Amino acid sequence: MSPKTKTKLNMVTTELSHSHSYHHDSSTMAKPTFRNKSSSIFLSDGLLFLGGAFSALLLVWGFSSFTNSINNPNLKLHQNDVISYSTPDLLSDPLDPTFYDEPEMGYTIDDKVQNWDEKREEWLKLHPSFSAGVKERVLMVTGSQPSPCRNPIGDHLLLRCFKNKVDYCRIHGYDIFYNNGLLDPKMSSYWAKYPVVRAAMMAHPEAEWIWWVDSDALFTDMDFKLPLERYKDHNLVVHGWAHLIHEKRSWTGLNAGVFLIRNCQWSLDFMDSWAGMGPQSPDYEEWGHKLRSTFKDKFFPESDDQTGLAYLIAIEKEKWADRIYLEGEYYFEGYWEEIVGTFENISKKYDEIEKGVRRLRRRHAEKVSESYGAVREEYLREAGYGKGSWRRPFVTHFTGCQPCSGKYNEMYTADACWNGMRRALHFADNQVIRKYGYVHPDLGNNLVTSIPFDYPQS
Ligand SMILES: *[C@@H]1O[C@H](CO)[C@@H](O)[C@H](O)[C@H]1NC(C)=O
Repeated sequence: MSPKTKTKLNMVTTELSHSHSYHHDSSTMAKPTFRNKSSSIFLSDGLLFLGGAFSALLLVWGFSSFTNSINNPNLKLHQNDVISYSTPDLLSDPLDPTFYDEPEMGYTIDDKVQNWDEKREEWLKLHPSFSAGVKERVLMVTGSQPSPCRNPIGDHLLLRCFKNKVDYCRIHGYDIFYNNGLLDPKMSSYWAKYPVVRAAMMAHPEAEWIWWVDSDALFTDMDFKLPLERYKDHNLVVHGWAHLIHEKRSWTGLNAGVFLIRNCQWSLDFMDSWAGMGPQSPDYEEWGHKLRSTFKDKFFPESDDQTGLAYLIAIEKEKWADRIYLEGEYYFEGYWEEIVGTFENISKKYDEIEKGVRRLRRRHAEKVSESYGAVREEYLREAGYGKGSWRRPFVTHFTGCQPCSGKYNEMYTADACWNGMRRALHFADNQVIRKYGYVHPDLGNNLVTSIPFDYPQS
């Protein structure tokens, strides 16, 4: 290495210590581009002004990440060697008035907020350290009921499900909010999440996306990241299939247990309509009838959020559908029964890959896990996504198992539900505790063993 390069790299290292969420192309060593003073200023101003070479680079990055993300949601995140985020300043809250100072601003579903986009933008201007990287910022929101679970192992399962989400968020640098208060006493069960999501938007103007994840949905691929670039023209993302909603009129044409919703006025308006079908509304009963007559396979009379969402997509199509992305290409959330039997074979496939690639066997700090995910991605090109693929399923959702109440759907057995959950949790945990030097050799039990150097050896 020439002395010149060395100096450059030293500069780079110094800069890096002030920024995070930065990736470099693993195969070619670091080729980072850095914020200089002027670029950090315009980033702070919310990308209003783009100058010279930097804007050209941004365009190239934007284009390549778009084309790649169609086939490969993971890849774009690892091509991001241009944008670096500044460290958010947690100590500064200027005294200039913001929406927080407006007495009529409220957090509940009944408080109507207008011009939210402008209000949020003004807040961001006053907090420039949060403006940089705002478009990629995600707040995960999840929760459970206020009282103890009826199922004797319910609280234990919920704890482990929460641990799973905390692991995922820590690895990817996301914030997470767990709520277990019933924010609107009338909005219980599946309706309870809307007041939480609504309040989270107000509490986190720095987050572009709120990611609701049901307590019984588990991350079973700790590497995979949301392909946010793909959703740039949409405000709501759910796992769903257009033909099942529009043609078959099936209430299971989508799943409302996991969704990504943009922190914007559209979403507030949309949630008004959506939550307007809930038990706190005078039209609740009527909505029950309406939903059931539209979606014939809905078997219970009460209005529910999932059918409500399908209704807004199918019937109020003109109004909403073009901003709603039905993600069907990968397991944005996946049905546990079709997934839990595949864990062993998938683990074997991943082990085989690692046996052939020293780089993937290398021990490393948990903080840099994403860079290893990028390397692994190159060996997963043939894996596919979703059903029938041998890629790790992103999210495994234990719909119908009801771990807290224990009142699982009669289609299943207690054993299938709880053993399935345990195996999913261990499958996920193996991707985490590996970096701490341990592994669950058998997905079916809690035992952990320490792993040898160069695990798994060829
Ligand atoms: C796992 O792999 C074995 C051997 O290739 C195969 O026989 C079996 O059907 C696979 N299991 C599943 C659930 O795909």
